[in-house]
Amino acid sequence: MTEAVLLVGGQGTRLRPLTINTPKPMLPVAGVPFTVHQITRAREAGVTRIVLATSYRADVFREFIDVSDLGIEVVIATEDEPLGTGGAIRHALPFLDSGPDEPVLVFNGDVLTGLDIRGLVDHHDSTGSDVTLYLTPVDDPRAYGLVPTDLSGRVTAFLEKPTTDAEIVTHNINAGCYVFRRSVIDSIPGGRPVSVERETFPALLESGALVTGVVDSGYWLDLGTPLAFVQGSRDLVLGAAPSPAVPSHGDLLVLPGAQVSSRAQVHGGTVVGREAFIADGAVVDGCVVFDGARIEAGARVHNSIVGVGAVVGEGCVLHGTVVGDGAVIGAGNELLTGVRVWPGAILAPGTVRFSSDR
Ligand code: GTP
Repeated sequence: MTEAVLLVGGQGTRLRPLTINTPKPMLPVAGVPFTVHQITRAREAGVTRIVLATSYRADVFREFIDVSDLGIEVVIATEDEPLGTGGAIRHALPFLDSGPDEPVLVFNGDVLTGLDIRGLVDHHDSTGSDVTLYLTPVDDPRAYGLVPTDLSGRVTAFLEKPTTDAEIVTHNINAGCYVFRRSVIDSIPGGRPVSVERETFPALLESGALVTGVVDSGYWLDLGTPLAFVQGSRDLVLGAAPSPAVPSHGDLLVLPGAQVSSRAQVHGGTVVGREAFIADGAVVDGCVVFDGARIEAGARVHNSIVGVGAVVGEGCVLHGTVVGDGAVIGAGNELLTGVRVWPGAILAPGTVRFSSDR
């Protein structure tokens, strides 16, 4: 038996305004809350029990888990105050059944990955490591802390984000999935915020513990930003990212009750949510259209997220935009990458326009 802790208590500030009412791991991705993709992947890898470490909007997780059968035991641990990544793992300890030397998997709640989870646990067991980290190589590591290893795979340091080329000693970064020997979790201080990346891991190295890195260059994506979120959704629909919760793949996923005009072009891994509507002549490419949203005639929407019940008016052009729940974008507006429209906002027709040759 293997247990896992899923860290899902963060505020998801980079994905605002989508995360104002719904915590990031509960946002629907390819038809189900993102956390379901992670839970079912863990289940397929032989995990039999999951502790959901919640804090921000814990009620939303509780309501969902109470009525769902995910084929695996799910226990909810809720922090009164957010305890950070390490504090959340420590807070989950009384909810774990594993013995002191048994492996406990820990996942960040926003990582989409093709990692061989079972392989990571087996590696942890065979090396006798205290902690084993999943590392992934990235082309440009300047936005991340770096995790160099020696030839045997032993982690030698946890380095802050590099600011010069000379500081880029490896392209491997912490990919947000770990295996802990359970007794290592016991040693994390309780009752106060702790960062696993900044405090727990460096302290383990300092104490001479065996911390091992496993580099896997397969699919990996952190869904923390709007553009990454639409990419993750797209990749799940198209089949580029694996999940047992997506039964079949195609150019689009239309959820029950949605209406897509036969004169609309919807493709690129777009998800059309329940009861959503796409009108004649609309082009919707690589988007996430949440439940009950409307995209009116002739609108062109690319790489964007359209919130629950939001309306994109006739002839609008949206690229890389986030439209909050219930917002109304009046006809003829043009919104480009980075624009975020707050829930319930109303943009009068033709208020924002860019040159027509764009
Ligand atoms: P941003 O605010 O956009 O950075 O997103 P985030 O809140 O998810 O933070 P971050 O991506 O750094 O967190 C990594 C993982 O740890 C995510 O899955 C979070 O849900 C989770 N997490 C972060 N802080 C806490 C916490 O205090 N408690 C719990 N239970 N989970 C946390």
